[in-house]
Amino acid sequence: MAEKKIIAVAGATGAQGGGLVRAILNDKSSGFTARALTRNVNSDKAKALAKLGAEVVAADVSDLESVKRAFTGAYGAFCVTFFWEHLSPEKEFIEATNLAKAAKHAGVQHVIWSTLEDTRKWVPLSDNRMPTLMGKYKVPHCDVKGEADHVFTDLGLPVTFLLTTFYWDNFIYFGMGPKKGPDGKLAITLPMGDKKLAGIAAEDIGKCTHTLFKKGREFIGKRVGISGEQLTLAQMAAAFTKALGQEVRYHEVSADAYRSFGFPGADELGNMFQFFRDFNDVFCGARSPDFTRSLNPALQTFDAWLAQNKSRIPLE
Ligand SMILES: NC(=O)c1ccc[n+]([C@@H]2O[C@H](COP(=O)([O-])OP(=O)(O)OC[C@H]3O[C@@H](n4cnc5c(N)ncnc54)[C@H](OP(=O)(O)O)[C@@H]3O)[C@@H](O)[C@H]2O)c1
Repeated sequence: MAEKKIIAVAGATGAQGGGLVRAILNDKSSGFTARALTRNVNSDKAKALAKLGAEVVAADVSDLESVKRAFTGAYGAFCVTFFWEHLSPEKEFIEATNLAKAAKHAGVQHVIWSTLEDTRKWVPLSDNRMPTLMGKYKVPHCDVKGEADHVFTDLGLPVTFLLTTFYWDNFIYFGMGPKKGPDGKLAITLPMGDKKLAGIAAEDIGKCTHTLFKKGREFIGKRVGISGEQLTLAQMAAAFTKALGQEVRYHEVSADAYRSFGFPGADELGNMFQFFRDFNDVFCGARSPDFTRSLNPALQTFDAWLAQNKSRIPLE
């Protein structure tokens, strides 16, 4: 049997990278094997990946030399950066640049860069519908990823730009799940008006990415957007109501109100949801669920994700 090609995976103990490692290792016929990058090879999550059959290696994306070592000998590299670890777009840009430079140094044959839209193409800094943040961004974690796209192309890398989207898992881990209001009723509070939120089960991102690596040439140089389903918040509240067996409402707020909530990143997320709402055709149009299902036939709908995960959603 031919030797398997190595896919080096950044963020392997996290949502996107972890899903990719599991997708590769679960497909014995894929021709790929997974090299999992982590800052701590002794963590429980890293050990679990090793147990599944991944090669686990130490790398910190803020340390270029460590990423060069981790990418050496790899056929493919999955590149993702970690805004929410430090809330710094400048640090995130350095992470992206290190990943791109390391891929170039290693001569990787297929890079997948997990990017997002630079929202300033649609909402220039002069547009006062939303505040400018950190001096030069509208939605820092989106803008800086989009800004970093050119680093990959400038280096002449064989890159696929993967546009991910809102993980439904945010209802479990990111404090966005239904909460009781003053009336004692559960509600999800978002500034999306009656527009659709393109969402996805985080685990499905890795399955799609695995297919992109398998298809290789077909997607090099392309921008690929993915989502599991696109639903209004009223539709999502109805799905929550059915799954949880108790009423969940959509509490619609303005983007200004959301930005004023005061939790870390509230202004940034207020701007992000406002972009999703005000440029809904751009946001949803780039992420066709039908196309996504062609990459991953097992793609979960929101109902299916809820059925699997409802007991993990913290309800007050
Ligand atoms: N949440 C959403 O809805 C959503 C949607 C679209 C895009 N995103 C983007 O997704 C990105 C994060 O990806 P994710 O959700 O897959 O991450 P995640 O689940 O938060 O996991 C990140 C993993 O990356 C590793 N990591 C953190 N800093 C690192 C560093 N300096 N060097 C090497 N590894 C590091 C950590 O592993 P170790 O501790 O093992 O090193 C951690 O397990 C963010 O930039 C975010 O903007 C999120």
